[in-house]
Amino acid sequence: MAHKVLTRFKERSSEQQEEVREWCASKVEPYISFLQSLDAELWLETQNTCSELKTSAEKKLQALGKDLGGGGNYHILYFMTRYLQAKEVVETGVAAGWSSQAILTALQKNENNGHLYSSDFPYFRYENPESLVGYVVEDELKENWSLYIDGDENNLPRIEKDIQAIDIFHYDSDKSYRGREYAYNCMAPYFTENTLIIFDDIQDNFHFRDWVEKTGHSYKIFEFENKFVGVAGGFLEKTE
Ligand SMILES: C[S@@+](CC[C@H](N)C(=O)[O-])C[C@H]1O[C@@H](n2cnc3c(N)ncnc32)[C@H](O)[C@@H]1O
Repeated sequence: MAHKVLTRFKERSSEQQEEVREWCASKVEPYISFLQSLDAELWLETQNTCSELKTSAEKKLQALGKDLGGGGNYHILYFMTRYLQAKEVVETGVAAGWSSQAILTALQKNENNGHLYSSDFPYFRYENPESLVGYVVEDELKENWSLYIDGDENNLPRIEKDIQAIDIFHYDSDKSYRGREYAYNCMAPYFTENTLIIFDDIQDNFHFRDWVEKTGHSYKIFEFENKFVGVAGGFLEKTE
């Protein structure tokens, strides 16, 4: 327990956060040129679809009149779900559902019966916070969606029962070192040599750096809205 508290304390110290940011900044590369180099036409599709997604999500949220926070880098998620023709996608952290909407839209476009499994824990300081999880997700996309809202520690063991091989894993929930490790260890048996693993907000602590050093995975770091996203997995090794 004392060790956990000390680790959390260190993670939050501004000194360590600065060090982590410096590490991320020293490795960062532009995500747009990377995605364009994979498939320029798909990047155009991604831009158009994500711009529609943004307009429609902002309209919904404006009408709701509540601040549910912004989304992660949903452009990467849309692009990669289409590019890899993903069938099983797992994400942690839903909030308003920008990432979920992007992945589900891409799965629908793939027309290959892909499914998204999402884990969240409602944190909004509003009445009935559960009703706000995934608020921007369109109803017509929900048939390919399993949403669990009891926290990763309860949700991931449930999700495990329904999956076989994860194509894309997107982590965007509890940002602590321990939370990231827990989710990774839980899902690791379902990763294949091609699974794309994405950790959001890797500037929060050294989890991503330590993990890539330990596993030897090839990785890329992208910047989005002054935050960093770490992307790794066998797929990247094939692009090198
Ligand atoms: C940054 S938001 C996710 C944003 C979302 N990916 C998007 O693009 O719209 C983080 C979410 O993770 C949830 N969360 C935090 N700790 C969690 C935990 N232990 N288990 C599951 N969800 C958690 C928060 O309640 C919040 O809804």
